[in-house]
Amino acid sequence: MSKKKIKQAYEELAKNYNALIDHKPHNAYYDRPNTLSLLTDVKGKSILDAACGPGKYAQILISKEANVVGFDISPQMIKYAKERNHNSATFFVHDLTKPLKTLNDESFDIVLCALAMHYIEDWNTTIQEFYRVLKPNGHLVISIEHPFFEYIYFKSTRYFDIEPVQCTWSGFGNPIEIHSYRRSLHECIMPLTNNGFYIDKLIEPKPLKEFEKLDPKHYKELNEFPAFMCIRAIKKPKT
Ligand SMILES: C[S@@+](CC[C@H](N)C(=O)[O-])C[C@H]1O[C@@H](n2cnc3c(N)ncnc32)[C@H](O)[C@@H]1O
Repeated sequence: MSKKKIKQAYEELAKNYNALIDHKPHNAYYDRPNTLSLLTDVKGKSILDAACGPGKYAQILISKEANVVGFDISPQMIKYAKERNHNSATFFVHDLTKPLKTLNDESFDIVLCALAMHYIEDWNTTIQEFYRVLKPNGHLVISIEHPFFEYIYFKSTRYFDIEPVQCTWSGFGNPIEIHSYRRSLHECIMPLTNNGFYIDKLIEPKPLKEFEKLDPKHYKELNEFPAFMCIRAIKKPKT
């Protein structure tokens, strides 16, 4: 599956994504509050927002006096991240699967990667880069699509495989094909624990009450079965 297709989809989505992200139920009242609950005490901390999209997480973290650096594969997303944050953070175009050559070793307290790891087939290089740029005991916080949800949603019959999958999103304007990779729970955890992290906390999130008014059908479903999973992993110092 081509990375080009993912980049192209987000280039097309960027304008509407940016316009809707503040109150889009799955983001504003499901992913963000749960993922942010894993980012405690961010004042004065240096945070890398990997696959930052239009910079909504960055905006929240900057308002809490964190120092944020963000990147995304989509130049349009980076344009909106800069506009939204009025140059109060550094943003650049970069592909998660490539080494972060411009960032120094042990330079961040926290790496955040929200709702983007499922666009990567092999997580190892990315996780190794997150490990390198994090300070010892630094926190890696990721939110991903829940592996059990995806197994059902994509009607998979090969749980243990990493499978390219695709679906159509209609919530951001014109319907658009989104390509990603479905993986097992083991394939979500093992790249972290094999690359120097231990799992500190894992949340199977529930939606906030605000979700219900905007989208009662999904509110009910998300209270019955999780669609996302949020993980905080901690960098073990090298022995
Ligand atoms: C669902 S959006 C999440 C954006 C943001 N993290 C948030 O939660 O608001 C996924 C983002 O991942 C980015 N992305 C996808 N593949 C990427 C890659 N290989 N490298 C960097 N960013 C990528 C997309 O451009 C998009 O902005």
